[in-house]
Amino acid sequence: MHCVFGLLQLFCVVGALLVIVPVHQAAPLEPVTDVLDNHCECHDRGKAIDCSDLIQDGADTSYLRIQIVCHNLRSAEPLRALYGRLRSAAPNSPIVVTINGLAMKALPARFFDGISTHIMHLNTSNVSEFDDDVFRGFETKVLDMKTNTPVAPPLGAIKEIPKLGSLMLHGYKVAVVKKGSFSDDLTTLGLSSCGVHRFEEDALPRGLVLLNLNSNHDLRPEGLQNVFRKLAKLRSLMLKETAVTIFNKDLFMGLKNLISLFLVDCNIKQLDDDVFSTLPKLDQLYLGKNALKEFRFILSTNVSNLNLDDNNLTALDEELFKELAGRRLRSLNLNDNGFSDVPTALQHLSQLGSLSLSGNHISKLNWSAFDGMRKLRSLNLEHNELILIEGQPELPELWSLDLMGNLLESLHGSLKSLHLGSLNLAANRIEKLPLEELPVTLRSIKLEGNPIHCDNHSDGDFDRELFEKIAILVKSNHGAPYRDCVRFAY
Ligand SMILES: *[C@@H]1O[C@H](CO)[C@@H](O)[C@H](O)[C@H]1NC(C)=O
Ligand SMILES: *[C@@H]1O[C@H](CO)[C@@H](O)[C@H](O)[C@H]1NC(C)=O
Ligand SMILES: *[C@@H]1O[C@H](CO)[C@@H](O)[C@H](O)[C@H]1NC(C)=O
Ligand SMILES: *[C@@H]1O[C@H](CO)[C@@H](O)[C@H](O)[C@H]1NC(C)=O
Ligand SMILES: *[C@@H]1O[C@H](CO)[C@@H](O)[C@H](O)[C@H]1NC(C)=O
Ligand SMILES: *[C@@H]1O[C@H](CO)[C@@H](O)[C@H](O)[C@H]1NC(C)=O
Repeated sequence: MHCVFGLLQLFCVVGALLVIVPVHQAAPLEPVTDVLDNHCECHDRGKAIDCSDLIQDGADTSYLRIQIVCHNLRSAEPLRALYGRLRSAAPNSPIVVTINGLAMKALPARFFDGISTHIMHLNTSNVSEFDDDVFRGFETKVLDMKTNTPVAPPLGAIKEIPKLGSLMLHGYKVAVVKKGSFSDDLTTLGLSSCGVHRFEEDALPRGLVLLNLNSNHDLRPEGLQNVFRKLAKLRSLMLKETAVTIFNKDLFMGLKNLISLFLVDCNIKQLDDDVFSTLPKLDQLYLGKNALKEFRFILSTNVSNLNLDDNNLTALDEELFKELAGRRLRSLNLNDNGFSDVPTALQHLSQLGSLSLSGNHISKLNWSAFDGMRKLRSLNLEHNELILIEGQPELPELWSLDLMGNLLESLHGSLKSLHLGSLNLAANRIEKLPLEELPVTLRSIKLEGNPIHCDNHSDGDFDRELFEKIAILVKSNHGAPYRDCVRFAY
């Protein structure tokens, strides 16, 4: 008799007969590794952990979030084995499964039979064939499938998954979205990078709350005619990297409850003044990476958050901003445009809380440009060409100021009257920074990348005393410890 001891089992070969005798049950929660080296493991916040650490005897499992991650599966057995063990220890915990890779060309029927997850992330990059019953016996609330092989997704099989609420498909070939493709229970649908260019009438479930159509490069307004008419529950619509470039207000007709709209990187050069007037609840409008030169259309909305980063804006229309003053606008992002000054029109926004002007070409800052912005809490002027700051700010609410990546050599006492909690002066040319110039309210400050950088041992002029004082100041405001200079300060 010839015996081989394996990890889990004892194989005994008796003559020509192969008899498999389980000698003892494996420790209940070990990672499962099979002979083909495909495996599944437990994860906690992105890191592999020992599954038994997750579930201890007698521990309350009702709040557990269990995550299983599998690589390179050649069959569903490793998943099934680990799932089975975890499920019996925690019958009601939501389980998240991530399958990073499948080394299979075809997925057979009932591949996930008996498995019930909260979220299933499934990368089917190497799969070109799905059995019509691939998902039979499988339950999940959220299914997130991606591929880099543009094959048709198994829509019929997906439709059979009971209680599926969210479906995200990425990279599949859909082209025309047909009526009846999706269950009426879906509230979230993603069809990003699926080559979608047209929808049949009533192709989308009416209960949709979120619809992601990003990166369908041939999706034009013509292909979206009447698509949104019946989506009265939709709250978020993503159309990033599409050909939705020229359109009028009829396009979004029917979206009575739409709150956020993403039209980022759509090559939009101009929009009609009334283009968003059919969206009464619109609150967040993202129009980054386009070529807009003006945005009068904003007057036909009541948005509180407007993002126009990376467009072709060089000036702001004073009259438009006078009208905007009484609106709900609270956050304005004008990053990466062509401003060479702080536009004086901004002064009218007396209710604005957050303004971002990073990545422009502003070389001089006169605080008077912000007079009137009495609610401003956060100002970002990162990566401009600021050499000079003049005047005295009247910004009673300003708490966070970001001046990183400019050319400032000194502050000329211009910040001390502010009640700043957070100040970023990193990557400037500041050589001297008397403590008296810093607001007494500071809780965090960044100074790295200046000639006064405290890590520079060789600099004879290094002001050890200053950094000690900064550390004490920040600490006295219960701020983060000023680690940059800890070595010198203590
Ligand atoms: C997927 O296929 C590619 C090329 O055919 C191969 O190199 C890769 O190892 C496969 N990935 C998996 C997870 O099997
Ligand atoms: C999916 O798997 C393929 C091949 O195994 C890999 O190249 C790709 O990066 C994976 N995608 C994601 C989002 O993990
Ligand atoms: C914006 O709000 C004002 C006042 O609340 C209202 O009169 C106007 O119709 C709203 N505009 C839009 C486009 O919803
Ligand atoms: C917008 O600006 C970019 C870069 O600044 C420029 O290449 C492009 O021609 C401009 N587009 C229009 C329509 O002015
Ligand atoms: C700042 O601008 C205001 C208004 O344009 C001007 O009156 C003031 O002199 C400027 N301050 C400085 C220091 O240049
Ligand atoms: C330290 O400061 C000196 C003088 O300013 C400079 O020449 C040197 O490059 C600095 N060293 C480092 C590591 O930053």
